[in-house]
Amino acid sequence: MSILARVRRLVPLAGLAALLAGPQVQAADPILAATPPMGWNSWNHFAEKIDDATVRAQADAMVASGMRDAGYVYINIDDTWEGERDAKGVIHPNAKFPDMKALADYVHGKGLKLGIYSSPGPKTCAHFEGSYGHEEQDAKTYAEWGIDYLKYDLCSLGETLEKVSPLDARKIMREAYVKMHEALKKTGRPIVLSLCQYGYDSVWHWGASVGGNLWRTTGDITDSYDRMAEIGFGQAGLAKFAGPGHWNDPDMLEVGNGGMSAAEYRTHMSLWALLAAPLIAGNDLTKMTPETVALLTNKDIIAIDQDPAGKQGDRVHAEGTLEIWARTLADGSKVVALFNRNDILNEIRVDFRELGFKGPVKAHDVWADKDLGELPSQTRLPLAGHDVILLRVRQ
Ligand code: GLA
Repeated sequence: MSILARVRRLVPLAGLAALLAGPQVQAADPILAATPPMGWNSWNHFAEKIDDATVRAQADAMVASGMRDAGYVYINIDDTWEGERDAKGVIHPNAKFPDMKALADYVHGKGLKLGIYSSPGPKTCAHFEGSYGHEEQDAKTYAEWGIDYLKYDLCSLGETLEKVSPLDARKIMREAYVKMHEALKKTGRPIVLSLCQYGYDSVWHWGASVGGNLWRTTGDITDSYDRMAEIGFGQAGLAKFAGPGHWNDPDMLEVGNGGMSAAEYRTHMSLWALLAAPLIAGNDLTKMTPETVALLTNKDIIAIDQDPAGKQGDRVHAEGTLEIWARTLADGSKVVALFNRNDILNEIRVDFRELGFKGPVKAHDVWADKDLGELPSQTRLPLAGHDVILLRVRQ
């Protein structure tokens, strides 16, 4: 068979023409958000007290702390950057952000990417200017600035939706997200689209079809075990809706903000990694204890979260306040997470046969960074209150 014929069997005709056209032909675009986005966002810690200098300092700290090298990429400005529109309708930042393009250049210069925030409604949740009626214009402006990520938060569009029938609400909301997705696409710049509408209308069923690379599945997280656990454990059953390029988003991290114990933050990181959740830090990166840096940059946790197969984990067993969750990784091994949602010591019993293993298993304890050797198929382990044991398990 001629080389051409052989190539033709492997490459469809249209692709063949491109292949023969020579080296100037670009490879197919990589999937945007092929693994869950990792980065930082201003809201959880700074809320409206965010400005250009603070964002630059966060970018500096992301590099200096080792977070960039651990995989964190996005520096995301949340609400309250927005200023007025000019006579032509072009949005400008307010006085806190004198030059958005210069800021993007700065962030890019550090090997990082810049994210921004808007709403499909006329106003954002903090009552700043939204993108309603200006979608194409705003997408173009973002692309000109060098923006790489847009969190698009329902906010005031929600008020419109309350006044119409559920069917109309669904249509209006989906069209609004499609409109921004199309506008971003038209810019030619790869910009991750993060839908934020708090899980309204079971967004996991349709978030990907309107162009979302991720979608919030819940209301806002706070820096407390109860809220983090309510959100995190509430993700049971959503695994099948996530995959490369389209992720469930149980909201940003609170690690390092001080409201939870070390065990509780371990639980937070373990759950988010198991859920293939975006890892968007929400603390002040310039003021981190070594413990916070260690939690955020734990190599095993990040490898689990970023596993290339992109198969979200799910709950496999619940016994009162004790829960077992598992996630299958690309290499066929499993992550098994044992959680104690009670605040007192308990004994957790795991039967690895119920998780698809035959007989005893080999286990590595991720947080202790310790090989446990062989565990019997029925294993009992003591587990402190609000704590987790995270195991990488193979046959
Ligand atoms: C909503 C979002 C938050 C944050 C604020 C900003 O509450 O869910 O994550 O973006 O708006 O106003």
